[in-house]
Amino acid sequence: MFRTSLLLSILGLSACSLLPPSMQPPVKRDPHSYADPSLFRTEHLKLDLRVDFARRVIDGTAELLLKRVDPTAQTLVLDTRDLDILSVEAGSSGRYAETRWRLAPRDKILGSALAIAMPAGADRVRIRYATRPEASGLQWLTPAQTADKKHPFLFTQSQAIHARSWIPLQDTPMVRAPYEARVHTPKRLLAVMSAENTPDTRRDGDYRFRMPQPIPSYLIALAVGDIEFRAIGPRTGVYAERSVIQAAAKEFEDTEKMLVRTEALFGPYHWGRYDLLILPPSFPYGGMENPRLTFATPTIIAGDKSLVSLVAHELAHSWSGNLVTNAVWDDFWLNEGFTTHLTYRIMEEVYGKDQGAQERALGANDLKDTLANTGLASDKTLAPRLAGRDPDENVTNVPYERGALFLAYLEDKFGRATFDAFIRQWFDAHAFQSVRNQDFLDYMDRELLAKHPGVVSQAKVNEWIYSPTLPEDAVWPVSDAFARVDAQREGWLAGNISVAQLDTKSWTTRQWQYFFDKMPTGIDQQMLLDLDDRFSLTRTQNPVIASRWYRAALANDYSPVYPAIDGYLRRIGRMLLIRPIYQELARTEDGRAFARDIFAEARAGYHPIAQEMVAKILETPAP
Ligand code: BES
Ligand code: ZN
Repeated sequence: MFRTSLLLSILGLSACSLLPPSMQPPVKRDPHSYADPSLFRTEHLKLDLRVDFARRVIDGTAELLLKRVDPTAQTLVLDTRDLDILSVEAGSSGRYAETRWRLAPRDKILGSALAIAMPAGADRVRIRYATRPEASGLQWLTPAQTADKKHPFLFTQSQAIHARSWIPLQDTPMVRAPYEARVHTPKRLLAVMSAENTPDTRRDGDYRFRMPQPIPSYLIALAVGDIEFRAIGPRTGVYAERSVIQAAAKEFEDTEKMLVRTEALFGPYHWGRYDLLILPPSFPYGGMENPRLTFATPTIIAGDKSLVSLVAHELAHSWSGNLVTNAVWDDFWLNEGFTTHLTYRIMEEVYGKDQGAQERALGANDLKDTLANTGLASDKTLAPRLAGRDPDENVTNVPYERGALFLAYLEDKFGRATFDAFIRQWFDAHAFQSVRNQDFLDYMDRELLAKHPGVVSQAKVNEWIYSPTLPEDAVWPVSDAFARVDAQREGWLAGNISVAQLDTKSWTTRQWQYFFDKMPTGIDQQMLLDLDDRFSLTRTQNPVIASRWYRAALANDYSPVYPAIDGYLRRIGRMLLIRPIYQELARTEDGRAFARDIFAEARAGYHPIAQEMVAKILETPAP
């Protein structure tokens, strides 16, 4: 029955797509959730959880306070995936009684709908449940996988639709609710959440959290490990393992400044503190904007602050994403495109114009690559159709960089002062709301285009959003620092500059990255050997430089990088860094065999999402 209603909503969606975009009715359901917020809506979530490292299980209770939006509604449907449901009670203000419930068969993408009978007058449910060791939103690390090697570690990753693998809930960004939690852990370990954390809390294995602002389910997060805290500024700080904390605090010392500058540009920070949690290297993403507590990969600690744009990005999500949220995953660019635009603005404010331009240029290059590769035309637009597909598998840089290019275009047309003010106003007017693409387009029509007639046409806006190709008058970024890299690379390739003469002394990680990203194939092996020799590239300890060099080297069939790649792929699980290496290896028979051998052993150390991603690359037959 639930499958049918889901099918209908998918069919409904695709029927709508035949209408011109502005005539689409508002979508009432999220195709990636079984929940129906027009019947019941979660208003508060209360968790009481025990973290059991020996069994790799979280068990406990989830209590949901609900609003019966439709007075005739009798069945509450929640999202779950691989949860063991032990008991379900329904009731009102503390008076609970067991109620009837049923768990539907598992859908590969969506999991299992949990249908609960709601007696008249009931406004809450309490579910006793346990997770499974293979929960898609959890990664359990052995001590060997941590920096300090002594204690196990657990972290969650709920975006996009993994919260349901560790909490039964309405797992859709259409619904937002405050939450509170009590978490029991081994005594030696500290638990932190995307909530109010008390840095000096006593370590006793019993921790309490409160997130007073209403947030979507994908932002609920928990980490447990042997971690410490160090303050950066009055509102900012880092959590990390002991051996990492010093370097992390130094690398991210500008975080407070970023926060202050962002508030000046885009309005007040609504979340109290902004802290960072540095995770072990198997964390599958660069960063995750869990409110009040960004989760981040250690691979951005480069020693020269050259990768801190990631902090700017996750911080910017405190406005675009966490405050104003895409209501469904099709509208992901409202989160990521806005955030990417804000990132570039923040980098410019804090580190100067060329730093911003460098970040923009790297992003624009990646976007050109993506758009040039074959793929669904609609995936190249800002309005992809993800119904029936796994939202994780369709994360490309299109919503990020095309979104940011669009906003940069508007900024160029309306002027920076006007456009910054417009963005700020968009956030103010939609704070703590979940919004659709059409909401933004209507708002922009009214508050920007109509107030400055004749500057940007409706047709141009439609081209940016719905056309698979980019408008011809896109504004491409130019960086002086990168122009110098281009000159060096071209001179070297043409044989005019020897390796010894290459002027790279002042190059940042970003400049090296750009050097490799634009390196062609078919380079002479001796030239590559000389380059490698001169700059110890294969032995670099910088994970971003390493990833880009390995990719360029493999594309040139330069085999001396193989042993280093072996170690790299066993140590690091950040998808952005390992994906291009696996892809490049998969191109040749030898490379693929080599990659398969590594993956067979490295796999257990990867996050479930990363495991799936790599498996897919290695299964797909070579072209
Ligand atoms: N929210 C994303 C991470 C994400 C996206 C998780 C989709 C699950 C599904 C985060 O803000 C992000 O964009 N991270 C990027 C880094 C950023 C600097 C481009 C990443 O992890 O690579
Ligand atoms: Zn992001």
